[in-house]
Amino acid sequence: MSLTTPQVKATVSRVNILLRACGPRSSDFGRAPGRRTFAAVIIRAAVDEDWVKIWPIFSQIVAAGQTYAYPEDLSLIAARQLWMEEAPAQTVVAVDGDVVLGSAKMRPNRPGRGAHVSTASFMIDPAAQGRGLGRALGEYAIGWARAAGFHSMQFNAVVESNTAAVHLWRSLGFQILGTVPEAFDHPQNGLVGLHVMYRRL
Ligand SMILES: CC(C)(COP(=O)(O)OP(=O)(O)OC[C@H]1O[C@@H](n2cnc3c(N)ncnc32)[C@H](O)[C@@H]1OP(=O)(O)O)[C@@H](O)C(=O)NCCC(=O)NCCS
Repeated sequence: MSLTTPQVKATVSRVNILLRACGPRSSDFGRAPGRRTFAAVIIRAAVDEDWVKIWPIFSQIVAAGQTYAYPEDLSLIAARQLWMEEAPAQTVVAVDGDVVLGSAKMRPNRPGRGAHVSTASFMIDPAAQGRGLGRALGEYAIGWARAAGFHSMQFNAVVESNTAAVHLWRSLGFQILGTVPEAFDHPQNGLVGLHVMYRRL
């Protein structure tokens, strides 16, 4: 078997998306409450200065303890090392002007002979969830991995009670290959499974 390691390009492509109508919410990205609005969101490569804006999203999601098995006492610097990828891997942000609404990171899942399989992770600001950003970042990650020549994408540990993520990844073509039983200690649900999810590109 002769598999070639994908030549991963540090893409900086920008994707303009229209956020779904948000309805009357006071957290409507600073716009007047009560108005239904569409927000122009850009997905772009993250730069060093973005980390201080990603950090509150990261720490909130990790502290909730429902979706990631990251240590809950990570310092700002240690968390940065986990989340901010170096080229040729990539971390991106979804921004509305100066406001970071979400972030994703994408990279080879394994080095060497496993490097043709990509992986990705996603975090959307809890105040901006459910408005299409996760789907937009998921589509971006798939496009990035495909353009970089990866063979497939694998998510290693999707918490089975994370219904939004499981629904979203299935709708983007991922299948559940298997579930490691009782592998995640959920603060409300107790021991739940971790799905391995996969799709060819
Ligand atoms: C999971 C996550 C990335 C999804 O992003 P999002 O912006 O909230 O999701 P979207 O608005 O793009 O919605 C995606 C789909 O999930 C659906 N969805 C949202 N919440 C749901 C829920 N509780 N149950 C079932 N489906 C749900 C939406 O209806 C949408 O499906 P549709 O397009 O078929 O209607 C985001 O919620 C998040 O960051 N969660 C915390 C961290 C996390 O779980 N990361 C992923 C780890 S695998």
